[in-house]
Amino acid sequence: MPSATINVMEAAARKAARGLIRDFGEVENLQVSRKGPADYVTEADRRAERRLRDELAKARPGFGFLMEESGATAGEDATRRWIVDPLDGTTNFLHGIPHFAISIGLEEDGEMVAGVIYEPLRDELFWAEKGVGCYLNRRRLRVSSRRRLEDAVLATGIPFKGRGGKTAFLSTVGAAIDRVAGVRRLGSAALDLAYVAAGRYDGFWEFGLSPWDVAAGIVLVREAGGFVTDLKGGAARLGGPSIVAANDRLHAPVRRMLRESLNESDLALAS
Ligand code: IPD
Ligand code: CA
Ligand code: CA
Repeated sequence: MPSATINVMEAAARKAARGLIRDFGEVENLQVSRKGPADYVTEADRRAERRLRDELAKARPGFGFLMEESGATAGEDATRRWIVDPLDGTTNFLHGIPHFAISIGLEEDGEMVAGVIYEPLRDELFWAEKGVGCYLNRRRLRVSSRRRLEDAVLATGIPFKGRGGKTAFLSTVGAAIDRVAGVRRLGSAALDLAYVAAGRYDGFWEFGLSPWDVAAGIVLVREAGGFVTDLKGGAARLGGPSIVAANDRLHAPVRRMLRESLNESDLALAS
């Protein structure tokens, strides 16, 4: 049974998701208008964040927040805060591509202890709590058991204009292309991590992600029996320069493959 904390996170995610689904429908109409849906999507994103903040604050009045749109807000309880991405996969949403999610993580004393990633269009609620396990709706999740790189499907994120990290990305993806069964870029880092937890992907790596992209996903992968670190193998840090998540058998080989592909300066930047 999910705990009271998970119930609070789930209720907030479902409430915000109802708005996102409506707005996603509207985006399809705006796609053909001259102005396009960009401003509308910015508003949809903000509305979702406000809903999440209201719901979470109502249920746990003392907790602080770190949210993508509104930044950090200290709470009376200095030990706990919600780390929230109201819409992960914005570019997909903007283009009418049905792959995006809401991500809510709970940090306690500097450690991620609970995570909910909700994909509204498929009604997939990925959730995990430290020591309790990782679940998709009511089904227990476990990372995949593939042990060979050549059988593995890995996900990543492609940097875009203004993001930097192009050469590091190209080196790592080049190495992966030579060694693995497939590389995917679906456009939501939160769902990428959830999919590693669910065993759909065998691993995931990306550079330059923000705390709200990975906060919930870190708990999911760990509780599903996977490993999630930076490129050096140190504990994954929120807002750190790199993240590597994989099943327990492939984590070390994936990390080695990525590291070995980088030149010295990219390696220094990514670690
Ligand atoms: C983005 C997605 C994407 C990742 C980007 C993120 P957003 O988040 O997670 O997969 O590659 O780096 O910024 O902007 O859609 O919330
Ligand atoms: Ca994001
Ligand atoms: Ca976002």
